[in-house]
Amino acid sequence: MKFFVDTADTAEIADLAATGLLDGVTTNPTLSAKAGKDFIEVTREICALVDGPVSAEVVALDHATMMREAEVLRKIADNVCIKVPLTIDGLKTCKALTSEGTQVNVTLCFSANQALLAAKAGATFISPFVGRHDDNGFDGMYLIRDIRLIYDNYAFETQILVASIRHGVHVLESARIGADVITAPPAVIKGLFKHVLTDKGIEGFLADWAKTGQSIV
Ligand code: G3P
Repeated sequence: MKFFVDTADTAEIADLAATGLLDGVTTNPTLSAKAGKDFIEVTREICALVDGPVSAEVVALDHATMMREAEVLRKIADNVCIKVPLTIDGLKTCKALTSEGTQVNVTLCFSANQALLAAKAGATFISPFVGRHDDNGFDGMYLIRDIRLIYDNYAFETQILVASIRHGVHVLESARIGADVITAPPAVIKGLFKHVLTDKGIEGFLADWAKTGQSIV
């Protein structure tokens, strides 16, 4: 399973990239606004920090303007992946861009039928939002199970990119189901490293080591 980080914070991206686990980055207009920098410039900076796909989202609602925005965004770097909303115009844009070899992430997916449509439009990634479903009283992971089943039934190559992840259980369940990618905020990814017994183990080892009075360097 690939790990993407869901942020436009370049310091956080650089920190996680140094661990070697980062396969890509996703942003959205909310995250880009939060970064407080010029959108094109921050996208360029992010693309230089990772080799994998960096999702940059269009903000137009009509196909023609989405294509014009995508034209600007895909010139930023070779690893830019154009993010489009799951609407008719978004899927027209998806079809046009993927036919030209540009990677597309179809976002704001909340149903398995929407995911089916995105796959038929040739999406590189589909982004179902699990956390927002949970917030609304529906277990978002059911959606991931359905999409996995449907994509496998028809051998669709669209990668399931589990988005709107809130905690480690979403990550674990995504891996169990066989999702292709997860994207999560830096704090959730950093939380995966942690275990109370790891901390306790280090504490015990260091206490015993201190008794020897030795140092390695
Ligand atoms: O970037 C898309 C998605 O991950 C947003 O998550 O936390 O705003 O629901 P969230």
